[in-house]
Amino acid sequence: MGFVSMPAISASAPGKVILFGEHAVVYGQPAIAVPVTEVAAKAIITPDPTATGGSIHITAPQINLDANFANLPSEDPIAASIRATLDALKLSQPPAFKLRVTSTIPVAGGLGSGAAVSVAIIRAVSAFLGHPLPDDQVSALAFEVEKLHHGTPSGIDNTVITYNKAVYYIKGKSIETIRIATPFSLVIADTGISAPTKETVADVRRVWESDPEPYNEIFESIGKLAVAARAAVEQGNNEALGPLMNENHELLQNLDVSSPELDKLVLAAREAGALGAKLSGGGRGGNIIALAPEGRAAEIKTAVEGAGAKSAFFTTVK
Ligand code: PMV
Repeated sequence: MGFVSMPAISASAPGKVILFGEHAVVYGQPAIAVPVTEVAAKAIITPDPTATGGSIHITAPQINLDANFANLPSEDPIAASIRATLDALKLSQPPAFKLRVTSTIPVAGGLGSGAAVSVAIIRAVSAFLGHPLPDDQVSALAFEVEKLHHGTPSGIDNTVITYNKAVYYIKGKSIETIRIATPFSLVIADTGISAPTKETVADVRRVWESDPEPYNEIFESIGKLAVAARAAVEQGNNEALGPLMNENHELLQNLDVSSPELDKLVLAAREAGALGAKLSGGGRGGNIIALAPEGRAAEIKTAVEGAGAKSAFFTTVK
């Protein structure tokens, strides 16, 4: 009974925001995303020596889940993350364990909650089984799980969350991390509206299919903003990011993935002194991000709360 003495194992993964390039990234354009370590998903595994081999009991209090792995549908994201890990390790009958999943990342808010939960589970399960997987494999497995839910994800979420670094991401290309020359502050504010990314991605695909040319132009313009933004952060020219964020928001409005609530928060942030602001993630709901000048983040946070944000916090991108 070697596993009886196995200690509890936990792994966590941060949230993320997309600074530039959401939606266009699905069509091959570059995008920039950064980890948000103020929020995180956590997976905790304890051995369950009294249960029969292969038994996995899962609890996830925030989504009221209390179930056995064997009884969950294969497309359940937690079950799929466990299955992907067991398959990668070629293990069908692991020693019995209990998995507890918790997260402070709002669900369906564009902060990467799904990918973070997958990454935390894949890391915890593989470590518990004595074979902690390397980052490239963790990211690849989380991508497979993302596909079940997002349809055609670009892979940016699992990448930035696994590596926990600012990334310049092009679908299908190997990961490029970005050096942030001078840290900067972002205010992240939630409309409180949950908007599944799968739907906004499918809507954009529909309009693109019906009339590709104008949408290809929008995607290319967004891609150029990501290129310019990368140069700006690498040179420490953070002020230049503000106007680029504003332009990116306008192009996302043209893709029809903004909403009155998002627009209201974006305007409130700019009026309160943000150098730029935009929706972040799939859109329609979820979060906006605003670039705060030195010392002004608290003021901008108060302004977006006054404009209807359900919650807001700030993070330092470094
Ligand atoms: O931030 P999220 O999880 O809402 O993802 C949105 C990013 C998209 O570009 C819209 C989709 C994708 O797969 O890249």
